[in-house]
Amino acid sequence: MRITVIGTGYLGAVHAACMADLGHEVLGVDTDAEKIAALADGRVPFFEPGLAEVLSRGIGSGALRFGTSLAEAARFGDVHFICVGTPQLPGFQAADLSAVHAVINGLVPQVTRDCLMVGKSTVPVGTAAHLAARIGQLAPGGVDVELAWNPEFLREGFAVEDTLRPSRLVAGAASAGAHATLRVVYAPIIHAGVPYIATDLASAELVKVSANAFLATKISFINAIADVCDAAGADINVVANAMGYDDRIGRRFLAAGIGFGGGCLPKDIRALTARAAELGVADSVCFLREVDDVNMSRRRRAFEIARDLLGGSFTGRNVAVLGAAFKPATDDVRDSPALHIATAMQVEGARVRVHDPKAADNARKVSPALGYALDIEETCEQADIVLHLTEWPQYRDLDPAALGAIVRRRCLFDGRNALPLDRWRTAGWAVRALGRPAQTAARPAAEHG
Ligand code: UDX
Repeated sequence: MRITVIGTGYLGAVHAACMADLGHEVLGVDTDAEKIAALADGRVPFFEPGLAEVLSRGIGSGALRFGTSLAEAARFGDVHFICVGTPQLPGFQAADLSAVHAVINGLVPQVTRDCLMVGKSTVPVGTAAHLAARIGQLAPGGVDVELAWNPEFLREGFAVEDTLRPSRLVAGAASAGAHATLRVVYAPIIHAGVPYIATDLASAELVKVSANAFLATKISFINAIADVCDAAGADINVVANAMGYDDRIGRRFLAAGIGFGGGCLPKDIRALTARAAELGVADSVCFLREVDDVNMSRRRRAFEIARDLLGGSFTGRNVAVLGAAFKPATDDVRDSPALHIATAMQVEGARVRVHDPKAADNARKVSPALGYALDIEETCEQADIVLHLTEWPQYRDLDPAALGAIVRRRCLFDGRNALPLDRWRTAGWAVRALGRPAQTAARPAAEHG
């Protein structure tokens, strides 16, 4: 099929490359000419494992190309995927849908033959029905333009894998014809046994936000229990591991620590809260405010623990931060708990030096006042405290004895509960973590230098 993908960010660039990999002819379109030039050249403008290979395969075979013209997209596509961003509206809980509206307004009047528009962006429930009506008004006479909603569940860091081998395909549409078209688009995936859930527009929209709200709730749940562990002298990792053996619960998304960030979970729970209020059911999802509050309080708690470990003040202290991305395997720093905490400490007078294997450049753009170092040793040199805030695998393998020789004080905060804390304590480090009070009894930090 001839497919266009409008919006080539994390979602769209991956979707375009993967659709070409499935055997379609694909045109990726974005308003950002620089991004388009990079993609057309086979360069991925962000870090996403495996994407460069799929991208160059598509470009090399001629199946995949990129451009900036919606008019060209309108002429080219049988199916148009909408993959533009829907970030939180500044100052509001609701999502900013202006990019989605711009695509509909720009593309639909220019189409010349029957086609299917497919929304993949995360939108509040009810948006698609509204857009479908708008499409009816904008479509040229005699041309049938239908709208389907096909939410995307990909995780950054696993985006290619999640697109080519998703856990499920969910699509909302009003007609059997739209579902038939989507089944052709995704034929190789469906043949591999992935379930295709055909539903209405509203249910499809709601699946996505509900899934993300559930994941956010799971994380905040375990983080709330981590506070109880701190108070009761229990260990959250043991509690989570033991809970996880129950397959009704599962161990995934029960990693306690400084909480969730990124471009999806935080804004999706807020957008769902805002939409539920518009629908008159605010009370039904009021727990999501608690989920949000628990999550944001992790960042304050980490800040306070670090301040305690430094004797009550950040002024003039050297702070080493390991990790800037909102999670490992990505260079995305949107709403990153790590950067949030690092910035708060710098504002309070600390000299903060940050390390991240992939996200340092992006972090520097949004937090230029922080220091950045290329390697872990330089980051930790003469540090009064080391904070582990994004659980990149290489941090787990650090040698606490070697690092202990270059810091000023052997003082560690593990904000992701992912380091082998016994090894660090054995090497003379004072260790704190969230929900693991046994570590708080560690010997006091040694002074060096
Ligand atoms: C999420 C959804 O998982 C994905 O299905 C959807 O399409 C987009 O939103 P993503 O934002 O890439 O994906 O990140 P995810 O892996 O879900 O992690 C979100 C945040 O939760 C990260 O900050 C991560 O560090 C944090 N997290 C995750 C925890 O704090 N504990 C956990 O146990 C799991």
